[in-house]
Amino acid sequence: MRIKILITALIMTAISANAQLRDITLPEPTPGNGASLYEALRDRHSARDFKDTKPLDDQQLSNLLWSAAGINRKSEMKRTNPTALNTQEIDLYVFTKDGVYLYDFESNRLLPKAEGDHRSLVAGTKEFSQDYVLDAPISIVMVAELSRFGEQATGNERFKLMAAADAGYVSENINLFCSANGLVTVPRATMDSAGIARLLGLPSTAMPLLNNPVGRK
Ligand SMILES: Cc1cc2nc3c(=O)[nH]c(=O)nc-3n(C[C@H](O)[C@H](O)[C@H](O)COP(=O)(O)O)c2cc1C
Repeated sequence: MRIKILITALIMTAISANAQLRDITLPEPTPGNGASLYEALRDRHSARDFKDTKPLDDQQLSNLLWSAAGINRKSEMKRTNPTALNTQEIDLYVFTKDGVYLYDFESNRLLPKAEGDHRSLVAGTKEFSQDYVLDAPISIVMVAELSRFGEQATGNERFKLMAAADAGYVSENINLFCSANGLVTVPRATMDSAGIARLLGLPSTAMPLLNNPVGRK
């Protein structure tokens, strides 16, 4: 009986945790007036100073997420980021001051997954943390869902390597978008992966691999 009450209380807490956050429908991505690819590559650098914690506007966010991993060939549902065997196993979670959202690339929406400011999980662990992450209005966390490779991936390290490469492409798309559009970022492996997995209720087949805090210079 006690266990039943405890489980009900936990479920209610989880439901109310997301009750305050709503789906965010992003505007259609636009070409914008970013720099050329040459200029973006010339200027790309890791930055850890985020001068302005003001949230990105929805258009910037839409353009950023589309560049990172949006659909660029609708008829085939293919993406701006390549993935091994077109597995599309990299999910993007957006950590903001208000909550954590999953980027739904098909509907161009942000789906609430956890309420509250959890950016400290992206900053790091109790043992090692990089607090500059807390100055960035958002962090994008790339999570590989290894089960999308199918049975063949179980216990096969090579698939983890492919997922890591795939996360790297998303991260570099973010790096170049920021460089071309007056934003700053740094690709990072540091984070509290176990804490993030717990917060988001990820299955054991999901691996948080990389993150990019994004802000203004
Ligand atoms: C896979 C990967 C993981 C990284 N992890 C971190 C990190 O946890 N924290 C950090 O401050 N920088 C991290 N960096 C950024 C590197 O330190 C940075 O890219 C490197 O110093 C070269 O500087 P540049 O990006 O300005 O060329 C990481 C970069 C890569 C590619």
